[in-house]
Amino acid sequence: PEAEPAAGEDATSIGEAREAAKGCRRCPLWHDATQTVFGEGPETADVIFVGEQPGDQEDLAGKPFVGPAGRIFDSILDDAEVDRRKVYVTNAVKHFKFEPRGKRRIHSKPNAGEIQACRWWLDKELDLIKPNLVVALGATAAQALLGRAVPVLKMRGAVIERDGLRVFITIHPSLILRIREPADKEAERERFLKDMRKVKELM
Ligand code: URA
Repeated sequence: PEAEPAAGEDATSIGEAREAAKGCRRCPLWHDATQTVFGEGPETADVIFVGEQPGDQEDLAGKPFVGPAGRIFDSILDDAEVDRRKVYVTNAVKHFKFEPRGKRRIHSKPNAGEIQACRWWLDKELDLIKPNLVVALGATAAQALLGRAVPVLKMRGAVIERDGLRVFITIHPSLILRIREPADKEAERERFLKDMRKVKELM
Protein backbone atom coordinates (compact mmCIF):
# COMPACT_ATOMS: atom_id res chain seq x y z
CA PRO A 1 0.00 0.00 0.00
CA GLU A 2 1.11 3.54 -0.73
CA ALA A 3 2.23 5.65 2.19
CA GLU A 4 -0.20 8.32 3.33
CA PRO A 5 1.18 11.79 2.78
CA ALA A 6 2.01 13.57 6.03
CA ALA A 7 -0.48 16.28 7.01
CA GLY A 8 -0.37 19.10 4.50
CA GLU A 9 1.93 17.36 2.02
CA ASP A 10 -0.68 17.43 -0.74
CA ALA A 11 -2.14 20.88 0.06
CA THR A 12 -2.64 22.87 -3.13
CA SER A 13 -3.93 26.07 -1.55
CA ILE A 14 -3.29 28.16 1.55
CA GLY A 15 -6.74 27.17 2.80
CA GLU A 16 -5.86 23.47 2.57
CA ALA A 17 -2.46 24.03 4.17
CA ARG A 18 -4.08 26.00 7.02
CA GLU A 19 -6.54 23.15 7.63
CA ALA A 20 -3.77 20.55 7.65
CA ALA A 21 -1.61 22.66 9.96
CA LYS A 22 -4.35 22.63 12.63
CA GLY A 23 -3.27 19.11 13.55
CA CYS A 24 0.48 19.64 13.18
CA ARG A 25 2.67 17.46 15.41
CA ARG A 26 6.01 18.16 13.72
CA CYS A 27 7.41 19.49 17.00
CA PRO A 28 6.19 19.38 20.63
CA LEU A 29 4.96 22.99 20.79
CA TRP A 30 1.39 22.05 19.78
CA HIS A 31 0.89 20.44 23.17
CA ASP A 32 0.70 23.56 25.35
CA ALA A 33 -0.47 26.08 22.76
CA THR A 34 -4.17 26.83 22.21
CA GLN A 35 -4.05 26.42 18.44
CA THR A 36 -1.91 26.65 15.32
CA VAL A 37 -1.59 30.26 14.16
CA PHE A 38 -1.21 30.00 10.40
CA GLY A 39 -0.34 32.87 8.06
CA GLU A 40 -3.01 35.24 6.87
CA GLY A 41 -3.54 37.27 3.73
CA PRO A 42 -4.31 36.84 0.04
CA GLU A 43 -2.72 33.94 -1.85
CA THR A 44 -1.90 36.51 -4.58
CA ALA A 45 0.17 38.73 -2.25
CA ASP A 46 3.41 40.18 -3.67
CA VAL A 47 5.07 40.22 -0.30
CA ILE A 48 5.19 37.93 2.74
CA PHE A 49 6.12 39.31 6.18
CA VAL A 50 7.57 36.68 8.51
CA GLY A 51 7.63 37.19 12.29
CA GLU A 52 8.96 34.88 15.00
CA GLN A 53 6.03 33.04 16.57
CA PRO A 54 2.55 33.93 17.82
CA GLY A 55 2.36 35.72 21.16
CA ASP A 56 -0.23 35.32 23.91
CA GLN A 57 -2.98 37.22 22.08
CA GLU A 58 -2.26 35.59 18.73
CA ASP A 59 -2.44 32.16 20.37
CA LEU A 60 -5.92 32.96 21.68
CA ALA A 61 -7.16 34.69 18.51
CA GLY A 62 -5.64 32.21 16.04
CA LYS A 63 -4.33 35.09 13.93
CA PRO A 64 -0.80 36.47 13.50
CA PHE A 65 0.24 39.93 14.73
CA VAL A 66 -2.95 41.00 16.52
CA GLY A 67 -1.39 41.80 19.92
CA PRO A 68 0.86 44.72 20.97
CA ALA A 69 3.57 43.96 18.36
CA GLY A 70 0.84 43.66 15.73
CA ARG A 71 -0.59 47.05 16.64
CA ILE A 72 2.71 48.87 16.24
CA PHE A 73 3.41 46.89 13.06
CA ASP A 74 0.00 47.92 11.64
CA SER A 75 0.47 51.58 12.52
CA ILE A 76 3.89 51.69 10.82
CA LEU A 77 2.65 49.83 7.73
CA ASP A 78 -0.11 52.40 7.61
CA ASP A 79 2.41 55.27 7.73
CA ALA A 80 4.41 53.59 4.95
CA GLU A 81 1.19 53.26 2.93
CA VAL A 82 1.44 49.48 2.79
CA ASP A 83 -2.05 47.95 2.93
CA ARG A 84 -1.93 45.03 5.38
CA ARG A 85 -5.00 43.47 3.74
CA LYS A 86 -2.99 43.06 0.52
CA VAL A 87 0.07 41.42 2.06
CA TYR A 88 0.54 37.98 3.62
CA VAL A 89 1.66 37.90 7.26
CA THR A 90 2.98 34.77 8.95
CA ASN A 91 5.47 33.49 11.51
CA ALA A 92 8.56 31.26 11.38
CA VAL A 93 7.02 29.12 14.14
CA LYS A 94 3.26 28.61 14.22
CA HIS A 95 2.63 27.67 17.84
CA PHE A 96 3.06 29.91 20.90
CA LYS A 97 5.98 28.83 23.11
CA PHE A 98 5.81 30.14 26.67
CA GLU A 99 6.71 29.68 30.30
CA PRO A 100 3.85 29.97 32.78
CA ARG A 101 4.49 32.65 35.42
CA GLY A 102 1.55 32.85 37.82
CA LYS A 103 -1.49 33.52 35.65
CA ARG A 104 0.64 34.95 32.85
CA ARG A 105 2.29 33.16 29.95
CA ILE A 106 5.72 34.57 29.19
CA HIS A 107 6.99 34.30 25.60
CA SER A 108 9.98 32.02 25.23
CA LYS A 109 12.21 31.87 22.15
CA PRO A 110 11.79 28.95 19.75
CA ASN A 111 14.93 26.81 19.41
CA ALA A 112 16.70 25.72 16.22
CA GLY A 113 14.86 22.36 16.11
CA GLU A 114 11.45 24.03 16.42
CA ILE A 115 12.36 26.59 13.74
CA GLN A 116 13.59 23.76 11.48
CA ALA A 117 10.45 21.65 12.03
CA CYS A 118 8.17 24.58 11.21
CA ARG A 119 10.24 25.63 8.19
CA TRP A 120 8.21 22.98 6.35
CA TRP A 121 5.05 25.12 6.66
CA LEU A 122 6.88 28.32 5.82
CA ASP A 123 8.23 26.66 2.66
CA LYS A 124 4.68 25.56 1.81
CA GLU A 125 3.46 29.16 2.16
CA LEU A 126 6.35 30.42 -0.01
CA ASP A 127 5.65 27.74 -2.66
CA LEU A 128 1.94 28.47 -2.85
CA ILE A 129 2.16 32.27 -2.79
CA LYS A 130 5.39 32.76 -4.78
CA PRO A 131 6.00 36.30 -3.49
CA ASN A 132 8.33 38.83 -5.12
CA LEU A 133 9.76 39.70 -1.74
CA VAL A 134 9.88 38.17 1.74
CA VAL A 135 10.46 40.40 4.76
CA ALA A 136 12.28 38.80 7.71
CA LEU A 137 11.07 40.56 10.86
CA GLY A 138 13.95 39.85 13.22
CA ALA A 139 16.57 37.16 13.78
CA THR A 140 14.31 34.10 14.07
CA ALA A 141 12.62 34.82 10.74
CA ALA A 142 15.99 35.53 9.08
CA GLN A 143 17.38 32.26 10.47
CA ALA A 144 14.34 30.33 9.22
CA LEU A 145 14.43 31.89 5.75
CA LEU A 146 18.18 31.80 5.15
CA GLY A 147 19.15 28.75 7.17
CA ARG A 148 21.82 30.63 9.08
CA ALA A 149 22.18 33.24 11.80
CA VAL A 150 22.05 36.82 10.49
CA PRO A 151 23.10 39.92 12.47
CA VAL A 152 19.86 41.83 11.83
CA LEU A 153 20.94 45.16 13.33
CA LYS A 154 23.93 45.26 10.99
CA MET A 155 22.09 43.87 7.98
CA ARG A 156 18.77 45.69 8.24
CA GLY A 157 17.65 47.19 4.96
CA ALA A 158 19.65 44.67 2.93
CA VAL A 159 18.16 42.16 0.49
CA ILE A 160 19.69 38.67 0.53
CA GLU A 161 18.89 36.11 -2.18
CA ARG A 162 18.24 32.47 -1.40
CA ASP A 163 17.11 30.01 -4.07
CA GLY A 164 15.74 32.84 -6.18
CA LEU A 165 13.88 34.31 -3.21
CA ARG A 166 14.60 37.93 -2.21
CA VAL A 167 14.73 38.27 1.57
CA PHE A 168 14.61 41.78 3.07
CA ILE A 169 16.20 41.93 6.52
CA THR A 170 14.85 44.12 9.29
CA ILE A 171 14.19 44.08 13.02
CA HIS A 172 11.19 42.60 14.81
CA PRO A 173 8.64 45.34 15.62
CA SER A 174 8.51 44.20 19.28
CA LEU A 175 12.00 45.70 19.63
CA ILE A 176 10.36 49.14 19.39
CA LEU A 177 7.94 48.21 22.19
CA ARG A 178 10.79 47.30 24.51
CA ILE A 179 12.54 50.71 24.29
CA ARG A 180 11.52 52.87 27.24
CA GLU A 181 13.19 56.20 26.55
CA PRO A 182 10.69 58.13 24.36
CA ALA A 183 13.24 59.77 22.03
CA ASP A 184 15.01 56.44 21.44
CA LYS A 185 11.68 54.72 20.89
CA GLU A 186 10.64 57.33 18.34
CA ALA A 187 14.02 57.07 16.56
CA GLU A 188 13.65 53.28 16.30
CA ARG A 189 10.09 53.65 15.02
CA GLU A 190 11.42 56.04 12.34
CA ARG A 191 14.12 53.54 11.31
CA PHE A 192 11.54 50.78 11.00
CA LEU A 193 9.25 53.09 9.01
CA LYS A 194 12.15 53.81 6.66
CA ASP A 195 12.61 50.03 6.21
CA MET A 196 8.90 49.61 5.44
CA ARG A 197 9.08 52.41 2.84
CA LYS A 198 11.96 50.50 1.20
CA VAL A 199 9.84 47.34 1.26
CA LYS A 200 7.05 49.20 -0.50
CA GLU A 201 9.49 50.23 -3.25
CA LEU A 202 10.79 46.66 -3.60
CA MET A 203 7.33 45.03 -3.69
N1 URA B 1 5.30 38.44 17.37
C1 URA B 1 5.50 37.67 16.28
O1 URA B 1 6.62 37.41 15.87
N2 URA B 1 4.44 37.20 15.66
C2 URA B 1 3.20 37.43 16.04
O2 URA B 1 2.28 36.94 15.39
C3 URA B 1 3.01 38.24 17.17
C4 URA B 1 4.08 38.73 17.83
